[in-house]
Amino acid sequence: KRVAVLISGSGTNLQSLISATQDSSQNIGAEIVLVISNKPGVEGLKRAEKAGIKTVVIKHSDYPNRESFDAAMNVELNAAGVEIVCLAGFMRILSEHFVKHWRGAMLNIHPSLLPAFKGANAHKDVLAARVRVSGCTVHFVEVDIDSGAIVEQEAVPVFPDDTEKILQERVKAAEHRIYPCALKYLATGRIKLKEDGTLCWN
Ligand code: GRF
Repeated sequence: KRVAVLISGSGTNLQSLISATQDSSQNIGAEIVLVISNKPGVEGLKRAEKAGIKTVVIKHSDYPNRESFDAAMNVELNAAGVEIVCLAGFMRILSEHFVKHWRGAMLNIHPSLLPAFKGANAHKDVLAARVRVSGCTVHFVEVDIDSGAIVEQEAVPVFPDDTEKILQERVKAAEHRIYPCALKYLATGRIKLKEDGTLCWN
């Protein structure tokens, strides 16, 4: 399957997807053909370039609204023949039209055990709640933020003296394990999103 990864930053999840898809022994069934960033100059773009993957920067500030920004992304995705979209630290909310267009073919990774701690400040919220366990979730993208069917999760411990940064690093190590695995499930047809929004395992 032809995959695009959408990023806004460091791209460590992108890196884990690049490494897994380029390792033929893992049989991910996917090839990353395009990386789109809404921010120029980010580390993730360098990772893609190093791996010989086409990159495109589409600055959201160049567009009057979400719809036109998303339409510009769709032009690139279609031109590259993309079949699966992976959001990996992509910090823009997508339009309803875009999400519905890619429904069942678009995954996101979120740094908490959903449905707990949705939103952009998961680690901060986890520490404030003083829970002892956190983790990460790969899920299908639906119009409601951080709400789609869960594909894969991994738990990590939270320690009393954790900072956001330390917790983020521990969670990211788990992210880098589960995202390639979830992509493999989708690319090889082991999972499918049903019309009712639930997951079907084959
Ligand atoms: C990850 O923690 C991911 O869960 C969240 O944004 C972060 C992206 O990190 N959505 P990176 O750019 O992949 O290093």
